[in-house]
Amino acid sequence: MNKVNVKKAEGKLGVLVVGLGAVTTTFMTGVLMARKGLAKPVGSMTQYDKIRVGKGADKKYLKYDEIVPMTKLEDIVFGAWDVYPENAYESAINCEVLKEKDINPVKDELEKIVPMKAAFDKNFAKRLEGSNVKDCKNRWDMMEQLREDIRNFKKANGVDRVVVLWSASTEVYVPVNKKVHYTLADLEAAMKADDKENIAPSMCYAYAALAEGAPFIMGAPNTTVDIPAMWEMAEKTKLPIAGKDFKTGQTLVKSGFAPIIGTRCLGLAGWFSTNILGNRDGLVLDEPANFRTKEVSKLSTLESILVPEEQPDLYTDYYHKVRINYYPPRNDNKEGWDNIDIFGWMGYPMQIKIDFLCRDSILAAPLCLDLVLLSDLAARAGRWGTQRFLSFFLKSPMHDYTKNEVPVNHLFQQYAILKNAIREMGGYEADQEID
Ligand SMILES: NC(=O)c1ccc[n+]([C@@H]2O[C@H](COP(=O)([O-])OP(=O)(O)OC[C@H]3O[C@@H](n4cnc5c(N)ncnc54)[C@H](O)[C@@H]3O)[C@@H](O)[C@H]2O)c1
Repeated sequence: MNKVNVKKAEGKLGVLVVGLGAVTTTFMTGVLMARKGLAKPVGSMTQYDKIRVGKGADKKYLKYDEIVPMTKLEDIVFGAWDVYPENAYESAINCEVLKEKDINPVKDELEKIVPMKAAFDKNFAKRLEGSNVKDCKNRWDMMEQLREDIRNFKKANGVDRVVVLWSASTEVYVPVNKKVHYTLADLEAAMKADDKENIAPSMCYAYAALAEGAPFIMGAPNTTVDIPAMWEMAEKTKLPIAGKDFKTGQTLVKSGFAPIIGTRCLGLAGWFSTNILGNRDGLVLDEPANFRTKEVSKLSTLESILVPEEQPDLYTDYYHKVRINYYPPRNDNKEGWDNIDIFGWMGYPMQIKIDFLCRDSILAAPLCLDLVLLSDLAARAGRWGTQRFLSFFLKSPMHDYTKNEVPVNHLFQQYAILKNAIREMGGYEADQEID
């Protein structure tokens, strides 16, 4: 074993979540219920997965906290910001993801999670009407107010370490602008000049988090930390960043299923994905400018798994379409259909249909927990910048596009990267052995 220097997970970990909606309240309720032994954190890698360390006769399968020092669920303290003033209990009830019987045992704790005023600009999510919003002079002031919130939260709760997770609505698409987003100096100047078009509120949260020593995770498809200026900020502050977009339902299926086609050298003519969902996320995504952000994120998955340049006979010009339809009766219980047109021997066509009747927030909650705990681990291990080992949890993994770096979207390659990062942080050798 190599000697590594990962700081212990001492004291409490503050988890500050932007957005106190369906995903966040499902995440918080599950953690609080699990802490009381009243529910199981099913789907969470950090709570269940076992990784092989060592080889041959020395091999062992260990849980993450047996390999690296992990924060315990008992040591998490939650806080949040939201545009709406309802506390976490009220919001969990309103979202109707969980049954009241699964919320009420932790009612007291949830009621204490009252959202701080949001850093919000209606132009970035037109369908939201909340009143719990900060009054800001400009984007720089918006960021300064968020910094103050983080400092106050730390003081009030006696926490040293904080992780900030964006689980708020998807903002409108902000294309990367070289004049603003490429250097930290330009980004800061634009915030001070109140450039409302190029500086999304989410960028103020990310900047504030990093400035206050907190790793930042982007759970929506927003390009917030997916810009060189934020990479520079993460380097300057020596903190981890991760993003973007939780890999939950359809994209999880896609990144796990596409390798079947690729591994067996079958051809792909087209992949049509459509969804119906009726929660507030669906409502926001019903706005074309917000859907555009999601579409860009969802479309990126196939391109790096089934690569036309590598197999022109099999993957040239396949048609890939993704649709999301707002359909209120289903609320959080999304239905995602995939129609996959493949071809085989001598070009003969075949079809595969997948109908995933999933629950959006039930799939997203364990990802929130894993991303938060692993970002905290990464910070304690002295890792900073884009955390590629977290791509496993994300639909559109961050990568250095200025250097033509190709993201890894293949679920099982992502899993290998995740396992090796944990091994290395635990002082074991990274390897490619079959488990
Ligand atoms: N559930 C999934 O499967 C899944 C998968 C990938 C990504 N996501 C993303 O996760 C996010 C959360 O999803 P959800 O279902 O909980 O949505 P939701 O609409 O229930 O909750 C989002 C909350 O964010 C708040 N909000 C919006 N802008 C804000 C701001 N600037 N500051 C503070 N709060 C703000 C809204 O008021 C709302 O309460 C969405 O962006 C969604 O696209 C979800």
